[in-house]
Amino acid sequence: MFFIALGKCFLNGIRVVNLLGDFGDFTVRYKTLVEHYRSQFPTIEVDMDGELACLKEHAEKLRSLSIVGDTVELLDEARKGGKSVLIEGANGALLDIDFGTYPYVTSSNSTVGGACTGLGLPPSAVRNVVGVVKAYQTRVGTGPFPTEQLNSVGQQLQSIGQEVGVTTGRKRRCGWLDLFLLKRTAIINGLTAIAFTKVDILDTFKDIQVAVGYKLDGKPLSSPPARAADWERVEVEYQTLSGWNSSTAAIRKFEDLPENCRNYIKFVEDFVGVPITMLGVGPTARL
Ligand SMILES: *[C@@H]1O[C@H](CO)[C@@H](O)[C@H](O)[C@H]1NC(C)=O
Ligand SMILES: *[C@@H]1O[C@H](CO)[C@@H](O)[C@H](O)[C@H]1NC(C)=O
Repeated sequence: MFFIALGKCFLNGIRVVNLLGDFGDFTVRYKTLVEHYRSQFPTIEVDMDGELACLKEHAEKLRSLSIVGDTVELLDEARKGGKSVLIEGANGALLDIDFGTYPYVTSSNSTVGGACTGLGLPPSAVRNVVGVVKAYQTRVGTGPFPTEQLNSVGQQLQSIGQEVGVTTGRKRRCGWLDLFLLKRTAIINGLTAIAFTKVDILDTFKDIQVAVGYKLDGKPLSSPPARAADWERVEVEYQTLSGWNSSTAAIRKFEDLPENCRNYIKFVEDFVGVPITMLGVGPTARL
């Protein structure tokens, strides 16, 4: 499977249409691709027969579901028919191959433009972009994280927020919300609204900090460092806001939230310049 994904940008990739077509033809393509990678990585081990058997099963399953098709036509017809199309993306904006913290990124574009390049949807079709933003910051695995709290604050965020990677089970690194980076994310994605989640995790903190700027060698930065090595030297400028020390989990109206909680939310909204239209205060609760 790995080989198939890799091939795309080397222009020797195998496409779904090949998988769903004649399996003999697919097998030839697959073997050619494996040989190609074997010549580059001689120690790599591939169970070709096992993989092919597995792929054959996948092909049958996919065919029976009839969910594979031309997204351009499908989406165009849906839009012409006046339907709303909701597109969901995975991975944080800072993991984007181009605008993330390269090289600690994923191999695709996880910013909103990916919806257009990935689906064949015209840019003018994107009208609303909702950024899903946690009330504090987390990161899985290595990579820059200037607001990380390697102390009791980070531990508390991790344990109260149950911050464990979904697929890996690894503990997520935790820290204060980085508004300097969020502002940039809002620009790149053209966020029109923010869904602010896990606000209740901050319920017991005396003070809450947010990053409002970066400095490098004493000079304020207007954008994040381009050089990977500079991230480690970045000095974070924080703004401290008072906590609210009471449970928000049962609250269902913005007006009913503690004053300091509303202040926190408003501060984020004003700094980023995007309205927060949804709030999460618990696993099942939304307001
Ligand atoms: C962006 O990502 C999507 C999804 O992975 C991919 O299909 C597309 O080719 C990528 N576009 C560019 C320009 O990298
Ligand atoms: C929060 O409130 C509780 C009482 O409900 C009190 O015992 C505790 O000290 C307070 N914590 C802070 C950080 O103010």
